[in-house]
Formats: sequence, C-alpha cells, structure tokens
Amino acid sequence: MTKYSSVEDFNKKIKQVLITKEQIDSAIQEAGKKIDAMYDGRPILLVSILKGAFVFMADVCRAVSVPCEVAFMCAKSYYDGTVSSGNVKITLDLNQDITNYHVVIVEDIIDTGRTLKDVVNILKSRNPLSLTVLTLLDKPSRRLVDFKPDMALFTIPDHFVIGYGLDCGEYFRNLPYIAEYYECSDN
Ligand code: IMP
Ligand code: MG
Repeated sequence: MTKYSSVEDFNKKIKQVLITKEQIDSAIQEAGKKIDAMYDGRPILLVSILKGAFVFMADVCRAVSVPCEVAFMCAKSYYDGTVSSGNVKITLDLNQDITNYHVVIVEDIIDTGRTLKDVVNILKSRNPLSLTVLTLLDKPSRRLVDFKPDMALFTIPDHFVIGYGLDCGEYFRNLPYIAEYYECSDN
C-alpha cells in the first residue's frame, strides 16, 4: 500500500479536480427532487454500499423529503491500490426484512459493474416492493458485466478517481471533491 512520507507527497497524488463540491451538491439536490417525485410520499429505504458511498449517502438522505430509513451493506471488490480483484464479498449485510420496502441503493461508483450486479441480485431475491439504483459516478467504458444504474449523477472516462468517499489504499476519502488520482510506477 502507498505510504506517504510528507504532506507534499500525499498532495502530489491529487492530479486534477474532475468534479467540484458545488457540482456534486447541485446534482444531489436534483436527484433528491427526482426521488421525491418518484416515490410521491411513500417511505423508502436507502441502502448505502460501504465504505465508498458513506459521504454520498449522508448528502442524499438529506436531499430527500419522503420518509426514509437508512441502512448499510459492505461489499468489497477492490482490496488494495487501483486494481480490481474481480471477486465481490458481502462483508456486512442488512439485518431487516425488505419485503415491505421501496429500496434505493446508494453507490459511489460503477466500474466493472460486478459489485452492483451481485448486490442487486441478492436484494432482488429478497423481494422488496421495488429496487432502484442511484450512483454518484458511472464509468461505462470499464464495464465487464451487463449493468445499468437507474440514475447516475456523473458519467466519467476511465480514470481512477478519489475523494468524496472514494479512496486509494484507504486515503483521500475526506476530499470534498472528486479528483483524478496520479498514478506512477514507483508505488
Ligand atoms: P465494480 O464492481 O468494478 O463496479 O467496482 C465498484 C467498486 O470499486 C466501487 O464501489 C468502488 O468502491 C471501487 N472503485 C471502482 N472504481 C474506482 C475508482 O476510480 N476509485 C475508487 N474506487 C473505485
Ligand atoms: Mg463502493
């Protein structure tokens, strides 16, 4: 895993800001209105996929006005660095019966599509009233399985990105914007 010997070293990994805090905020406000219109007063269960979606979830839940509950799942697909391991593990599951819920999955990014395809299949098999997928970022050019989110706030090219919940080696989740990660061969 990357170790940073100085703050300068750390900051050098932030190559360029791709999506500003203001752009994220306004896209979330719009998404909140769409969700309110879709569910029209019906209660929803927002299910966030940890850890990457924790910041997005905090903002999405405050942008909706329909009655909402929040819940968390942990699905791991990236174990270290920027390379997909190709297998998805559910390491934290919901503890409620979802048969009486309109479920909205709140995800940070869809890359190969493997994580969400698996999570959606698992949750569908539990017969929720409905299931919708909201993702902050979509990288469709990287897809390895057939999967389309119902709502994607930003479509981005094939860059490894950090910030606003997304990490590289567990760092950078606290950046308030989405940035491109500077990859070089010496780490
Ligand atoms: P997928 O199964 O390949 O679609 O991977 C989805 C998961 O991998 C996301 O929920 C992220 O946690 C992680 N991931 C994919 N692309 C990136 C990226 O560019 N930066 C940080 N994490 C990423
Ligand atoms: Mg994730």
